[in-house]
Amino acid sequence: MSHPSGPDASTVDATLATTGPADGPWWRGAVAYQIYPRSFCDTTGDGVGDLEGVRRHLDHLVDLGVDALWLSPFFRSPMADYGYDVADFCDVDPIFGDLDTFDRLLHEAHARGLRVVIDWVPNHTSIEHPWFVASRSSRTDPQRDWYVWRDGGPDGAPPNNWTEALTYGRAWTFDEATGQWYLHNFLPSQPDLNWANPQVVEAMLDTLRFWLDRGVDGFRMDVVNLIGKDPDLADDPPELVGLPHLVLNDRPETHALLRRIRALLDGYPGDRMAIGEVILLDIESILGHLGDGDELHLAFNFPPMQGPWTAETWRSAIATTEAAYGAAGAWPTWVLSNHDVVRHRTRYGGDERIARSAAVLLLTLRGTPFLYAGEELGLSDAEVAPHQVHDPAGRDGCRAPLPWDATPGHGWAGAEPWLPWPPEAATGGDAATQAGDADSVLALYRRLLHLRRSHPALRHGSLELLDAPDGVVSWRRVDGDEVWQVAVNFTDEVVGGAAPTGEVVLSSRRATDPAAPAGDLAAHEAVVVRT
Ligand code: GLC
Repeated sequence: MSHPSGPDASTVDATLATTGPADGPWWRGAVAYQIYPRSFCDTTGDGVGDLEGVRRHLDHLVDLGVDALWLSPFFRSPMADYGYDVADFCDVDPIFGDLDTFDRLLHEAHARGLRVVIDWVPNHTSIEHPWFVASRSSRTDPQRDWYVWRDGGPDGAPPNNWTEALTYGRAWTFDEATGQWYLHNFLPSQPDLNWANPQVVEAMLDTLRFWLDRGVDGFRMDVVNLIGKDPDLADDPPELVGLPHLVLNDRPETHALLRRIRALLDGYPGDRMAIGEVILLDIESILGHLGDGDELHLAFNFPPMQGPWTAETWRSAIATTEAAYGAAGAWPTWVLSNHDVVRHRTRYGGDERIARSAAVLLLTLRGTPFLYAGEELGLSDAEVAPHQVHDPAGRDGCRAPLPWDATPGHGWAGAEPWLPWPPEAATGGDAATQAGDADSVLALYRRLLHLRRSHPALRHGSLELLDAPDGVVSWRRVDGDEVWQVAVNFTDEVVGGAAPTGEVVLSSRRATDPAAPAGDLAAHEAVVVRT
């Protein structure tokens, strides 16, 4: 395999050292950028983004200043859940390219100093995966036990009362041919694997080895708290029925499996990282999946993403996170948007000033931030008309295509994209236009990421919440002699005396927006101050 336009591989190690040893492993000092490949950039003219589209825009990520990219699934899939229903864990779906395209992308990312994290979907496969095809073929098939098959309850009832997490239907489907039910914590076309079967464990560890051997830097582990299951598959408590079983599945079996997964990663050189999507009701249960430093390296910190844009919510989210992660000796993560939720620009009401101050917050807290492609352009969700709906769980709006330039095709290969453009595509919000505007949302993200890279205190410094007037949250980051303060005004009014004293190195305000008197914060302004 050749890499015609990729820089020489010998540059890889030197350029990957974007964070210094004081940061510890790379993923502590890094900022990660999630790419949903279908929506990033189409190069083939089928209206669906592909891996070549990611490769062509790697310099966008370098100019932005992120350290790692996370690719949502690009594996072979019938796309019932747009790639989270995997039919072959070790191949690229032709809609996205092939293994050579992936290798080239990986190589060129590494040559630019970017780490590459891929999605790993361990809880379930597609109904079309050969393992499931075999498993459902007969009760005596050698792979029958690779999935969770059970007899039904009395009167045609399913084996238990669990609810699946995408459409909130029951988590079981009856298979006429073999007269048993199979478990699916997501769509009926996403049957759960049976991780209690050692052959499944081995086969799934092999899928990790496949990508580790190719050189990926880590995995985002999809709904990983689901892999260990109660052997009795007991009913969920009646008062909790209706909640997806996903959020209740906190099992010792998962921890034992995570230790095996971690040992496998640790056996590879180069700090291979595992971040888990662990969706449970309380922070302690989520943190439990980091074990004693022998399970996941990181877990997504979703609770703060679920609240409104208010000072009370964020002060409490920061305090809770600091306390819980501090007590557990764990490293926090922060995220505002991803491919499963309404984009934060839209969730917080659409005001660009809020999108800008949210960027300051996300990139100055203590922990590893995860950006979702397009948030650096301040994108909102697309309006998706009923005839344009794809996702059975209503998540199309945040999966709208990224507009790369101001031409009618916005830098895509020409065909109508699989989902409509976000509103900003028509109003100069594309990447090329923003790159030429020193005051754009993109320019603000670049300045913030540059500041973070240049100042260790903003990456690994301690964090202390400070007293602040109502409607404002303020914190201090300290590393040695370096002291920074951040203040965010969550209100639509000037707040007097809310700006920290010192040199205002960055403000979220557009130069053309009204400034506040010295010492005050303008409406929806966030500032980063060196004290
Ligand atoms: C995770 C993914 C989501 C997917 C689900 C099932 O929550 O983020 O997109 O539908 O898992 O794999």
